Amino acid sequence: MPEASGWCRLLPAWLLLPSLVLMAVCSPHAATVAAGTACAPRCYCSEADEGKTVRCSHLRLTRVPTGIPNDTRRLYLDYNQLPSLPTDAFLGLPLLAELDLSHNELAVLEPGAFRGLAPSLKFLDLSSNRLATLNPEAFEGLTARSNLTGNPWHCDCALQSTLPQLDLEPVSLTGIVCHTADPAESGAKGQALLLTKELDLCVLLKKTTDVAMLVTMFGWFTMVISYLVYYVRANQEDARRHLEYLKSLPSRQGKSEESSTISTVV
Ligand SMILES: *[C@@H]1O[C@H](CO)[C@@H](O)[C@H](O)[C@H]1NC(C)=O
Ligand SMILES: *[C@@H]1O[C@H](CO)[C@@H](O)[C@H](O)[C@H]1NC(C)=O
Repeated sequence: MPEASGWCRLLPAWLLLPSLVLMAVCSPHAATVAAGTACAPRCYCSEADEGKTVRCSHLRLTRVPTGIPNDTRRLYLDYNQLPSLPTDAFLGLPLLAELDLSHNELAVLEPGAFRGLAPSLKFLDLSSNRLATLNPEAFEGLTARSNLTGNPWHCDCALQSTLPQLDLEPVSLTGIVCHTADPAESGAKGQALLLTKELDLCVLLKKTTDVAMLVTMFGWFTMVISYLVYYVRANQEDARRHLEYLKSLPSRQGKSEESSTISTVV
């Protein structure tokens, strides 16, 4: 009987407990406090033997979130709406080994976008974005294996010279497909760039510039020649007129002499 009364006295507290738990779960601030570890807002952080994983997938993010823990080893930012990566986008993550940026809208990687990640980063997924060109300065020193498939690549001399500087996933062999190409008549459009070994876009570009140069030079040459011809013709005309003038001089001189004698006579 005394036990029952004890229960009864604690009853209000028992009723209160679920609502307290609910409050803690529903209020975002309370939730972070309850979790105990800092995590980027709306992202999901988990800890494993191999280090911290931060998942920020499918959040419609348009910029890299702040507050990513500095001991993160894996960062998932896939299926968001990131349009570009600014310089120093991932500063202060010295342990980051895997970075998934696939299925975003990335078209621009600013110089130094991955600065600070070079020593630790092992895998970089940039697949299924809107990359047409690669700025080599964005990758400065980076040795991570990169997945660059599923982008609308503009295959030109610059891209063909940048790709060998990167450590590419084997899938890139078939996955880097030219959406457009320069020079357009190279036939690279629709081809997997890394499989077209015999196609050297830089040599082709050089050839087309050489041809353009020749055409320009020929144009100038023609202009100079036509001007010379015109000049000579015009001078010939002048010279002929001058000659005729000279030829006509003696008779005119005679006439004027005549007139002068006439005037003196008069
Ligand atoms: C993360 O930041 C804390 C506090 O500034 C620091 O003590 C810790 O060494 C940092 N960890 C890493 C891996 O840089
Ligand atoms: C590279 O990206 C493509 C497209 O997102 C994906 O299907 C493929 O599994 C990725 N490869 C690796 C090795 O991650």
